[in-house]
Amino acid sequence: MAQAARVTNSGGRPSTAVDATSIDQIAGRSSAADAVPLEGSDRHSSDRGEAGPAQRRAVGTDDGTVRAVTEPAVVHDIRAAYDAVAPRYAELFSNVLETLPMERAMLAAFAELVRAHDAGPVADVGCGPGHVTAHLHALGATAFGIDLSSEMVALARRAHPDLRFDEGSMTALDVDDGVLGGILAFYSVIHTPPQHVPAVFAEFRRVLAPGGHLLLGFFAGDDPLPQEFDHKVTLAYRWSPGSLAESARQAGFVEVARLVREPREGERQFQQAQLLVRKPEEPGAPR
Ligand SMILES: C[S@@+](CC[C@H](N)C(=O)[O-])C[C@H]1O[C@@H](n2cnc3c(N)ncnc32)[C@H](O)[C@@H]1O
Repeated sequence: MAQAARVTNSGGRPSTAVDATSIDQIAGRSSAADAVPLEGSDRHSSDRGEAGPAQRRAVGTDDGTVRAVTEPAVVHDIRAAYDAVAPRYAELFSNVLETLPMERAMLAAFAELVRAHDAGPVADVGCGPGHVTAHLHALGATAFGIDLSSEMVALARRAHPDLRFDEGSMTALDVDDGVLGGILAFYSVIHTPPQHVPAVFAEFRRVLAPGGHLLLGFFAGDDPLPQEFDHKVTLAYRWSPGSLAESARQAGFVEVARLVREPREGERQFQQAQLLVRKPEEPGAPR
């Protein structure tokens, strides 16, 4: 089992039968994906976001001991789904940022704000194979990755041996309070059932330093209620940017910026959005 290194105050897709011709197929970003069954990612009983029976799981800690954690059943299913597709996902997506200028612009702004604030490292939560973590690193941010899927973490470590990647869940981060300068959740909160999103945002707020930034990447829509869609790995939800911003506001964040772009040719015909929010400074702190 991978060692989970704790972040403290002192610390700074197996191959499937799918012959995907588009980078969008696995992530459900392509309408063509709708017709393609993805082996190894069958839908699970908890896919509709019901809490389901909680699961006990052993997690390694940095002192070599093993502790048991309880997690929602849906988290177990998401892990299994991404473990099953990790190599194929990495193959399809590891260079995708090269083709996404809007996303790169928001990532650059995020990295610059985090660097200027200098309050701690950036956690790329739901980092997948680590390509966005590496992009943040190249932008000068001190970045590390966290992912639910041990297969994704293994691929990320192999592709970026100079960077740190830990197994973990956004529902209970093994990170001390207030130690992160930034959190990136790039198309990872999309799998969180909407009723669990407030708890995830509360967890993000807990681990961020005052003034720390959170950047969310997600599929967008106009409906005020989150809409589930048939993502090819496991069930996902798209949000209107206003609804997700309101959920972040209710968790104590202040909106900084949002970017909504139209789908590109060949992508699933959903808008895609980036939402940048900030944890307020402590009262009286210099801005
Ligand atoms: C669509 S992929 C995005 C990966 C990467 N951020 C990217 O943009 O290519 C979603 C990732 O989020 C991870 N993930 C989903 N739920 C998670 C959770 N509760 N905690 C940590 N990671 C999670 C999955 O294992 C998967 O690697």
